[in-house]
Amino acid sequence: MTYRIYTFGCQMNEHDSERLAFELEKFGYTKAGNEIPDLFIINTCAVRDKAVQKLYTMLGRVREWARRGTIIGVVGCVAQVEKERLIKRFPYISFVLGPRSYPYLLEALSKAKKGEKLVKADWRKNWWEIGGARRENPAVAYISIMEGCNNFCTYCIVPFTRGRELYRPLSSILDEVRRVVDQGYKEIQLLGQNVDSWKCDNYRFWHLLERVRNIRGIKWIRFITSHPKEFSKEIIDIMAEGEPVSPYVHLPIQAGSNKILAAMRRGYTREKFLEIAIEIRKRVPNSSIGTDVIVGFPGEEEKDFVQTLEIMKAVRFDNLYSFHYNPRPFTYAGRFLKDNVPKEVKRKRLIELQELQKEIQLEKNRNFVGKTVEVLVTGRSAKDKRAFMGRDATFRVVNFEYEGENPIGKILEVKIKEAGPHSLKGEVIGE
Ligand code: SAM
Ligand code: SF4
Ligand code: F3S
Repeated sequence: MTYRIYTFGCQMNEHDSERLAFELEKFGYTKAGNEIPDLFIINTCAVRDKAVQKLYTMLGRVREWARRGTIIGVVGCVAQVEKERLIKRFPYISFVLGPRSYPYLLEALSKAKKGEKLVKADWRKNWWEIGGARRENPAVAYISIMEGCNNFCTYCIVPFTRGRELYRPLSSILDEVRRVVDQGYKEIQLLGQNVDSWKCDNYRFWHLLERVRNIRGIKWIRFITSHPKEFSKEIIDIMAEGEPVSPYVHLPIQAGSNKILAAMRRGYTREKFLEIAIEIRKRVPNSSIGTDVIVGFPGEEEKDFVQTLEIMKAVRFDNLYSFHYNPRPFTYAGRFLKDNVPKEVKRKRLIELQELQKEIQLEKNRNFVGKTVEVLVTGRSAKDKRAFMGRDATFRVVNFEYEGENPIGKILEVKIKEAGPHSLKGEVIGE
């Protein structure tokens, strides 16, 4: 029996798919090659409508497979909110499981084989009841430290798809970190929608970072995503001490105007954000800050957007994920605020923001030319399949050519020769 999992969305979803794959292999499934699989699972994202539309396109494509006997399952964030509606619309789906219902996978499969359907989208179970992951990347191990989000930012559907925060116990996290380090993984990425709110008994997130840092054999510890409202001085203290804690932090700002930040219910002001960013820049050697921005939130006027541009110039982020606002069901903004920034204006603002960021990134990346950085090799280069790629401590993508045996998973010393806005290119000078 063969399976294939198609994944949309964030690292949490990617990691969930790795865990689903582990379970499937435990039940005797093997990963399908190019042939039509016996089981096809789509792990879905609901954060923007575009991602949901991709699911529907995909379901249209696999209809014929279902007719020929492939079991089709839809899991993840869209599954959680759409539930039975998915099966009503696409009757050839066999099961629908929300992100906290994966422990029902075995039940779903045995029902599917009998031609029965299963829809589970409750909050009772959680992921950590499932024991392992079939990791896709041989260098970087994702470790889930929490589920859900309590923040209810007014634009965001995630609290409705992943539920309220649930923290994985400290010992369970540390056990998994030790296990993956023994298996040879060099980078650990601690995952949660809001890692700063993780807690366990009297331990807070910075205690967890300290405990993970003390496990020998890790090159870099990264954590994704941080929230400016809860990002604490103690985390900066730990980052300032350097490796193995990475100098990279992903700290989504979302907007630069206090009016919009308040309407988004983000819980911080532009001044507070700047204060944190300045502190990180001052205290963390080689600090690198990534962010997310939404343009065109309801009520965003030109002067609000200008404030976003200003803060981008002040912080000089090292990377940016940017989106135009998309009203989402269940959310406060989706239900009660008029999506009143015209599409054209959103588009124009997004382009202006991205152009500015491109310039900043190019300038920053050019400072790397001539320097030697350590790169953890993660795979083949996206642009040139003969070359390899990896990331340095600051989370920059570095491409390089390599003649020897497959270097994936190794740490190489790379001298940077060229810089683009989104990546660096270099020559390997040592291992
Ligand atoms: N937990 C993280 C945080 O607090 O920023 C990120 C969560 S979300 C999965 C990833 C990004 O999607 C957000 O940072 C936001 O920029 C974007 N996003 C979420 N809802 C959106 C919406 N309705 N329209 C456009 N972008 C959205
Ligand atoms: Fe969504 Fe806000 Fe939670 Fe991030 S912190 S997942 S943006 S509700
Ligand atoms: Fe998407 Fe769910 Fe992640 S909505 S961004 S897959 S938490």
